[in-house]
Amino acid sequence: MTEKQNLISEGKAKSLFETSIANELLMVYRDDTSAFDGKKKEALSGKGSINNKFNAFIMSHLQRNGVETHFLKQTSDNESLVKRLDMLPVECVVRNIATGSLCRRLGVKEGIKFEEQPLFEFFLKDDDLGDPLINDNHIIAFKWGTADEIEQMKKITFEINKYLCKIFDDAGLILVDYKVEYGRYDGKLILGDEFTPDGCRIWDKETGESLDKDRFRKDLGDVVESYQIVAHKLGVKV
Ligand code: C5P
Repeated sequence: MTEKQNLISEGKAKSLFETSIANELLMVYRDDTSAFDGKKKEALSGKGSINNKFNAFIMSHLQRNGVETHFLKQTSDNESLVKRLDMLPVECVVRNIATGSLCRRLGVKEGIKFEEQPLFEFFLKDDDLGDPLINDNHIIAFKWGTADEIEQMKKITFEINKYLCKIFDDAGLILVDYKVEYGRYDGKLILGDEFTPDGCRIWDKETGESLDKDRFRKDLGDVVESYQIVAHKLGVKV
């Protein structure tokens, strides 16, 4: 087992530790679950372990398809080794179907499908400000990233969307929307953070049922059980 050293950061659902290797970190997935900028919180038994395995499955799939990520290997039930990145303070949200904050913000109808090109949005990572929507000019003006990095984030995210929509669709699921984050490594921008049902919306293709963190946000129950259903359909070994 890789030894944890100093705690670097503690997010709402994950903790990041240094290891004996300078540019490798240990990402620990906890059972803690939060929504609404941390206003709603609960520990859901087994969620850390399922998210760790789910993320390992997705990151490995992306890597096999040529998408570079920070993921190195799963080291235990709820821990994975990752490359140490210099993270950009922005979140990239991709939407294949309109729902969530997009509909609240713009008053548009739920369920509109973005078939030709998914909708891409940047948000600033800042809980105190409620992660506000920003655009390319904000990122350049405040030096949160360069014009080239903005282009790369869009290009890689659209690639990711193509690969992921296919595996979810083949599994009888709809990948509605999700959030990804990027960081710098060795002069390149690569995918960091996580891809789990905590950070995406997944609907059952037949029933339209939510099988993601909306179950927690909306008090629908069976949160971990729903993550397990998605994992099972995708072939993730949990
Ligand atoms: O809330 P909103 O509709 O903007 O969320 C879009 C997608 O991004 C959802 O799948 C949500 O789970 C994800 N997201 C996230 N972390 C955030 C904001 C959004 O994982 N801070």
